[in-house]
Amino acid sequence: MKKIELNVNGKVHSVEIDEDMRLVDVLRDKLGLLGAKEGCGEGECGACTVIMDGETVASCLVMAFQAEGKEILTIEGLGDENNLHPIQKAFLDEGAVQCGFCIPGMVLSAKALLDKNPSPNRNEIREAISGNLCRCTGYNKIVNAVEKAAKDLQGGK
Ligand code: FES
Ligand code: FES
Repeated sequence: MKKIELNVNGKVHSVEIDEDMRLVDVLRDKLGLLGAKEGCGEGECGACTVIMDGETVASCLVMAFQAEGKEILTIEGLGDENNLHPIQKAFLDEGAVQCGFCIPGMVLSAKALLDKNPSPNRNEIREAISGNLCRCTGYNKIVNAVEKAAKDLQGGK
């Protein structure tokens, strides 16, 4: 066992980990943050996406100790059902959520994009979510939702 400090959603957590724990394991099993899902476990599906120091990462590919000293944002740090982030609200408004498995990762990929590029075109949105697989929606509604979120975040409701 090893003790590390992880800054998650603006709060520093001191956690005891096995050396081989990945970030997704610590988030889910130690911190009870279940938004990051484990799908493939191989960096292919994007269900475990979180934002680390402003960049999206597959938390199944990051060892927990590698996340020490970084700022981690998970979907729980973005908003909740009582206080939705505009991106989350846009996903609901556009009917872009079906089973929901991919959605935390999608929303975080959208956030990382919009933080850098507040007015992306549809190709840029598709590129930004290209690492996030969705079995349900066919992606168009997700792209619509990210476009809407971009407008809403700029006050163009
Ligand atoms: Fe991490 Fe699929 S579970 S990319
Ligand atoms: Fe089901 Fe995307 S909404 S996988």
